[in-house]
Amino acid sequence: MRHFLTLKDYTKEEILEIIDLGLKIKRDLKRGEIKPYFPNQTLAMIFEKSSTRTRVSFETGMYQLGGHALFLSNRDIHLGRGEPVKDTARVISSMCDMVMIRTFAQSMLEEFASHSKVPIINGLTDAYHPVQLLADYMTMIEHGHADNPVVAYVGDGNNMTHSWLMLASKLGFELRIATPKGYEVDDVVLADALAFAKESGAVITMMHDPKAAAEGATVVTTDTWASMGQEDEKEERIRAFKGFIVDEALMHRADKNAIFLHCLPAYREQEVSESVLEGRQSVVFDEAENRLHAQKGLMVWLDRQYR
Ligand code: CP
Ligand code: NVA
Repeated sequence: MRHFLTLKDYTKEEILEIIDLGLKIKRDLKRGEIKPYFPNQTLAMIFEKSSTRTRVSFETGMYQLGGHALFLSNRDIHLGRGEPVKDTARVISSMCDMVMIRTFAQSMLEEFASHSKVPIINGLTDAYHPVQLLADYMTMIEHGHADNPVVAYVGDGNNMTHSWLMLASKLGFELRIATPKGYEVDDVVLADALAFAKESGAVITMMHDPKAAAEGATVVTTDTWASMGQEDEKEERIRAFKGFIVDEALMHRADKNAIFLHCLPAYREQEVSESVLEGRQSVVFDEAENRLHAQKGLMVWLDRQYR
């Protein structure tokens, strides 16, 4: 049985296999063919943070695959009132066939997984957002941007940045990350990525200059300056991230056919300008839709590992 807690645990071949499966299931859906992979099965979805895309894509995806999804907010289940993670994990995994969790600490997810009888999927933690990267890479493939991409990430060194580091270092492409000073990525995550990069040939560069990161890039991406849980730091962050907006001037430095990705929700005129978000290079709504297709590929793939 495999869990999907971080891309760190996955090989290049496995990542591509999951995305390929998602693309196949997407083609089937668009042709009107819906295959019931999960009859009478349930996906538990535990949310300790807000969500639009993750909730809707997993719930819809599980329904389309013939199963049922349970939305479990921590305001409603006993986990939010202090029932231990290990008890919750044993109870839920004795009844459900797969569990998706959105939470704060990666260690909570790991603890849950260590007591679970069924696969656990990371639906975002403070450290990683791996399902988002499956959708992002699927979007790059569909837009013809997956061959030797040069990806520029401009913004906060957060869960998205960490996930880009894992994807690039496993798949072997170039990734430039520009953050303000004091908002760099985690040292341990970076060290892991650099070790994987030695094997894959990925070129990973950390910098503080968005312009240098964007120069000739074929994919430009960013994320919110204040992630969930950092609401109190919002004003301070807006000051610290001045100059880190992805606007038309920055996009002009990138390859003329570059695409713009953003996991959403986006904060216009903070990390991205309205004109870039709504502009010809933006593929953010294809990217959002691909959450559905990529995660269906992931759920079917995980199920195949333990049946
Ligand atoms: N990108 C993403 O995970 O969106 P939600 O927070 O809406 O799920
Ligand atoms: N970095 C953001 C991503 C939201 C999908 C957050 O954690 O809030």
